[in-house]
Amino acid sequence: MTLEKFIPISNLELFQEIDKNKIPKHVAIIMDGNGRWATKKGLPRSSGHNKGVSVLKEIIKVSKNLGCKILTVYAFSTENWIRPAKEVDFLLRLFEKVLKKEIKEIHQESIKIKFIGDLSPFPDSLKSILYRSEAITKDNKNFTLNVCVNYGGRQEIVKVAKELAYKSFSGEINPSEVDEKLFNSKLLTQGIKDPELLIRTSGEKRISNFLLWQLAYSEIYISDVLWPDFNEFEFLKAIIDYQSRNRRFGGIESLPNESFEDSYCSS
Ligand code: FPP
Repeated sequence: MTLEKFIPISNLELFQEIDKNKIPKHVAIIMDGNGRWATKKGLPRSSGHNKGVSVLKEIIKVSKNLGCKILTVYAFSTENWIRPAKEVDFLLRLFEKVLKKEIKEIHQESIKIKFIGDLSPFPDSLKSILYRSEAITKDNKNFTLNVCVNYGGRQEIVKVAKELAYKSFSGEINPSEVDEKLFNSKLLTQGIKDPELLIRTSGEKRISNFLLWQLAYSEIYISDVLWPDFNEFEFLKAIIDYQSRNRRFGGIESLPNESFEDSYCSS
């Protein structure tokens, strides 16, 4: 039984436990459990996704206030197309509706929004709002929200391998020049530092084709809470857990003075 079952711990108490000098700058989240949450309540799966959106808004606010700089969320995977057409259609319409409604506030909050994935199969109306949201917010500096849509880690790696193979074949590069730095610079996440922390909700212990390259050294935190029930309290718990880890990067102790600006490679 966890401590909070005996003594209710407030968000403020958890907040006070956090070392403000050890906040992960980039947190990635697999927002899982929307469907199960809805089914448990006898509701249609769509209401789980709707509730999931309000949770995402809360987590953006909390992570930004805490000093995180980048949040990357998995909103639609390359595998999600095999869901019933009605659910896929609902999700795509939800993205469009949410962005139309929220983009003004996202911009006012100085949040830069970026969509990571192959946007080409999406309807034109959705593509247009995705591109427009990126264009409006591109110079915002406070915080970056990366939304992975029609994203798959393996597909991303194959895309880079293919591009480098073509460049080698055409003589533009020498195959011996292919190294981690060059490979990294061709990923969809180019220029974005790798996540220090991955949170997955709903108790599943898989990476599910999410940021396969970028998560190489990330700490993984699994929460049993379903995404629509996730909240500030659960997020703070994840941060405290992260801060208790000894990040060794294959060595014997944590790297001193990790800098946010440098190292586009492993964090
Ligand atoms: C996983 O739960 C959740 C999704 C596939 C969709 C997540 C999308 C949102 C929360 C909306 C985000 C919106 C914007 C604009 C970024 P699941 O359906 O796989 O749940 P289950 O595993 O219980 O079935």
